[in-house]
Amino acid sequence: MHDSLIHLSSAGVSLLLDVSGDDLPAIVHWGAALGSLSEDDARMLALAAVEPVVPNAGDVPIRVALLPEGWRGWTGKPGVEGHRDGADWSPRFRTERVTLGGSDLVVTFTEADAGTVVVESEDATAGLHLVTEIELTGSGVVRARATLRNTADDHYDVAALNIAFPLPPNAREILDFAGRWGKERTPQRSALVVGIHEREGRKGRTGADAATVLSVGVPGFGFGAGEVWGVHVGFSGNHRAYAERLFSGVQVIGGGELLLPGEIRLATGEEYSGPWVYGVWGDGLDEQAARIHRMLRARPRHPRRPRPVTLNVWEAVYFDHDRQRLWDLADRAEALGVERFVLDDGWFRGRRDDTAGLGDWFVDEEVWPDGLRPLAEHVRDRGMEFGIWFEPEMVSPDSDLAREHPEWILATGGRMPVLARNQLVLDIARDDAYAFVLERIREVLRETAASYIKWDHNRDLVDPGHGPRGVPGVHGQTLAAYRMMAELKELFPELEIESCSSGGARVDLGVIEHTDRVWVSDCIDPLERQQMNRWTAQLLPPELLGSHVASGVSHSTGRSHTLAFRAATALHGHFGIEWDLAAATPDELHELGEWIALYKESRALMHTGEMVRIDTSDPTLHLYGSVSEERDSALFVLASIGRSEVSPLGRFALRGLDPDARYRVRPVLPGGAPRGLIRPPWFGADDRGVELTGRALATAGLHTPSMHPESAIVLDVSAVR
Ligand code: GLA
Repeated sequence: MHDSLIHLSSAGVSLLLDVSGDDLPAIVHWGAALGSLSEDDARMLALAAVEPVVPNAGDVPIRVALLPEGWRGWTGKPGVEGHRDGADWSPRFRTERVTLGGSDLVVTFTEADAGTVVVESEDATAGLHLVTEIELTGSGVVRARATLRNTADDHYDVAALNIAFPLPPNAREILDFAGRWGKERTPQRSALVVGIHEREGRKGRTGADAATVLSVGVPGFGFGAGEVWGVHVGFSGNHRAYAERLFSGVQVIGGGELLLPGEIRLATGEEYSGPWVYGVWGDGLDEQAARIHRMLRARPRHPRRPRPVTLNVWEAVYFDHDRQRLWDLADRAEALGVERFVLDDGWFRGRRDDTAGLGDWFVDEEVWPDGLRPLAEHVRDRGMEFGIWFEPEMVSPDSDLAREHPEWILATGGRMPVLARNQLVLDIARDDAYAFVLERIREVLRETAASYIKWDHNRDLVDPGHGPRGVPGVHGQTLAAYRMMAELKELFPELEIESCSSGGARVDLGVIEHTDRVWVSDCIDPLERQQMNRWTAQLLPPELLGSHVASGVSHSTGRSHTLAFRAATALHGHFGIEWDLAAATPDELHELGEWIALYKESRALMHTGEMVRIDTSDPTLHLYGSVSEERDSALFVLASIGRSEVSPLGRFALRGLDPDARYRVRPVLPGGAPRGLIRPPWFGADDRGVELTGRALATAGLHTPSMHPESAIVLDVSAVR
């Protein structure tokens, strides 16, 4: 058959694919760009990548396909796992067709920039057809997806479709994320040793502890430098991501959906597609993140209009839906310049606390005798959008819905799952349950003309059995949630959706295809958010990170912080407020107004610019920001997150600027200088700052001001013409 190599290259990344013979596609090189290659170069590279045959191994070198195959002697995690009543479990696929950009590949070597390669392969004996899609995006992200079709007469049980990307031998240090409620995306580093570092997500949602991006890099890699290869599974249901090092020194990172026993059983002609698995290489974590950010920003449906300053009422009123209080909160919000007002949990029937009501998506007549429209109109009359909270996939046992339709609860036959937050999960993969919830949401959106849903999902799926037999249902449930979001957006083209899940437990590239921001965490303590926002940004750009200013004493940690630290920390995201403004002092409101003005002035820069996180010399210093596309302006936040053994902290350098341009760097201090700030001389008279070239700022740098712990200042960097 064909004997083909394909070299895709974009934004400094090369992907050299081997689709030779009738083999499954394999990656020869994935990483830094190789420059333009001749066919001979490409063949030499492919040859150079073949390992020698060593004693007591297979007699032919092991070729590691994107879906690695056992029949070749590969003893790592296989790409396709499944069986037909015990048989056909080790398929041997033969490639029949390769297309690039939709056209059949007829030549033996092709070079292209971004593009999609589709490989169709068949195992006629096993009765299986496999389609592998491999795309290199314009920003240099590789993503791949596999679809398996059963072509035989009896059913085929799929256990896994795993996509694996090769890692070079110098990638030996793993970085991925742990997390729990209120502390999502906590980084953890470990060594990649022989064996598997596998992260299983079995919660039926992405999980606060999801690996998010599982990276392996050259030891010591940081934000600014050090090659790193990462994998992300774009799916909100059960999933796995792993790094594997074999006895032979061969290493891969991979992932896919984690299927429950019997979850995918294909009848004749049926097929199953795994989620997109993303591979992201970068020289440093910032470059890795920037590739994902650019990919997301290039989507036609990426939110482009200015991200509205949001007031979410949750930490302001909780379940106290008092008309006067909410009216007053809306008035105060308007006075501050808020642009979106979101009514959180507690508006529907029976929902006076978190023990009842989920599923009864009717406005509670006792609390809202005139419905929600008067509040929504009051909000809109004040120039703000109205948003509303739903938790569509959930049901309280104490609800009319659960009483009327116990059979709509996701459960394995004959018993109910254990409660979590007093609630159970609705089986929305059932047509009737799905139709009911969709209709209710549609009605409430029509009645209130709400243009925003905070879409929550507050528990793990335990015993997620679907339908009368209670068969495994996470796959169907996850797709049903996506479908409902998509359908609502079709019905209401202006609708925006926030992905919330007990805070940030549903943050992934699957859900982000249907939503417009995520709620990073229920913990709004800025010291915690310094970490969580910084690391959630490894996957999502700042405009997608719900980031609020809460009350001075954090509701989740009890720590107290200045408004300046709270607001400076919230600044680099999709900014909002979650604070009972009636309890704020006039001085606080005035200062908050200044921060809101700063956010509005700088959101275009922060939401289109490139994110930079500086590798500072001291772990107590966070320095991060955004540099505009034209590199003529930047905004950085300098945050002290602890007390160091040295003081002052020495100089910091700014990366990402144009080396030949001159910039003025000056502190911006809404509300005045934070308590404890000791200015370095370069702040100059009246905090006018200093002028230096981008090169000088990146090399020599500027002295760090001395600051109280848990305080922050903003630095404006503007090109001088
Ligand atoms: C979850 C969310 C919160 C809030 C509550 C309401 O915990 O993460 O922001 O909406 O539910 O019950």
